[in-house]
Amino acid sequence: MRYASFLQDLAASGSTAWAVHSEAMARHRRGEDVIILSVGDPDFTTPPPIADAAVDALRSGQTKYSAAGGVAGLRKAIAQTESKRLGLEISPDEVTVTAGAQNALYMTMRCLLDPDDAVILLSPPYVMFEGVVRAAGGTPILAPLDADRGFALDPDAVAAAITPKTRAILLNSPHNPSGAIANRAAVERLAALCVAHDLWLISDEVYADLCFERSFYSPRRAPGVGDRCVVIRSLSKSHAMSGWRIGWAVGPAAFAGHARNLLNNIQYGGSAFLQAGAEAALTGDGADTACMKEAYRRRRDLLVEGLASAPGLRALKPEAGIFALADTSETSWSGESFSWALLNEAGVSVLPGGAFGPVLQDRVRISLCQPDAVLAEACARIVHFLSRHAGQAA
Ligand SMILES: Cc1ncc(COP(=O)(O)O)c(C=O)c1O
Repeated sequence: MRYASFLQDLAASGSTAWAVHSEAMARHRRGEDVIILSVGDPDFTTPPPIADAAVDALRSGQTKYSAAGGVAGLRKAIAQTESKRLGLEISPDEVTVTAGAQNALYMTMRCLLDPDDAVILLSPPYVMFEGVVRAAGGTPILAPLDADRGFALDPDAVAAAITPKTRAILLNSPHNPSGAIANRAAVERLAALCVAHDLWLISDEVYADLCFERSFYSPRRAPGVGDRCVVIRSLSKSHAMSGWRIGWAVGPAAFAGHARNLLNNIQYGGSAFLQAGAEAALTGDGADTACMKEAYRRRRDLLVEGLASAPGLRALKPEAGIFALADTSETSWSGESFSWALLNEAGVSVLPGGAFGPVLQDRVRISLCQPDAVLAEACARIVHFLSRHAGQAA
């Protein structure tokens, strides 16, 4: 039987990216001693008041169909959260609740793209971006971030990538995998490009609550960008709720209307009791997120300091988020061969940077989603592993 042809592209784009991680997980399940630093799934438990609110809602019978695009209470809580965060008046009519940020990305692409429309991604992009554009019938076009300036946003590089086919620019700041935060002036120039070329600006801000020192400037706040911007967020990282699959898009009311209509046809509404938990997450005092942020910051420092004596490996200090990149170019390994050797010889799994594209082939991405003691043990293993191999440097 025949399948839709775009599925070929999707299978090809994600096929090898996760091989080290999958192998590490298989070994872990078999009881082998493996420290998993290859995935960004928060190790914290979802804060109990959030789980309690969902359980109460479940027991009280919130188990029926619910409105596509989110129940009223959660949309209101999101609108209030985003109004406060962005310093703008966001109405619940501009909010669409989705199954995580990933689903919001797909829904947004479906709402904005016609076949063959191009979307500019900043390279290296988060691993799922190219696939989500293709899944919606669009064409991803890469514009480089400035790797020499810590993966800074370079509006000139974006301007050079714009063609008559360009429909949207997808910005991800704070950035996965580098943890870089785009600075305000660059974001405003990007926004001005969108206005000048009549483009959508999609802003993936899933790490916005996890900025360590520098504050984050959302492009939604840039002059003139309001009705051409869709902001995407979720509770996955900020509230340790990855498995709940709760995210959202904030865009113009007309966009939200189309999005609800689309979701009605493909999902028919999410789970009301999970959304009750999400509402509790957003109406709480924020102390749990602050605690997790502090833990990630501490772990970042622990990792960077712990790897300082690793021969040839250079860890880059992220400004935000739950990952750090490390550069293998002064060792004899590429990111990929380093990751396999480290897994096989030291029992630590990291993600080869090549998963994000050739620009990161000499880097690995290391997750901060392990307790401090485990992360310290992983650093010790990496230092020991590289010390043993010192002298083999290319
Ligand atoms: C940049 C970025 N966007 C979106 C997602 C998807 O998040 P969610 O779990 O909310 O679907 C992730 C997850 O790692 C991410 O890093």
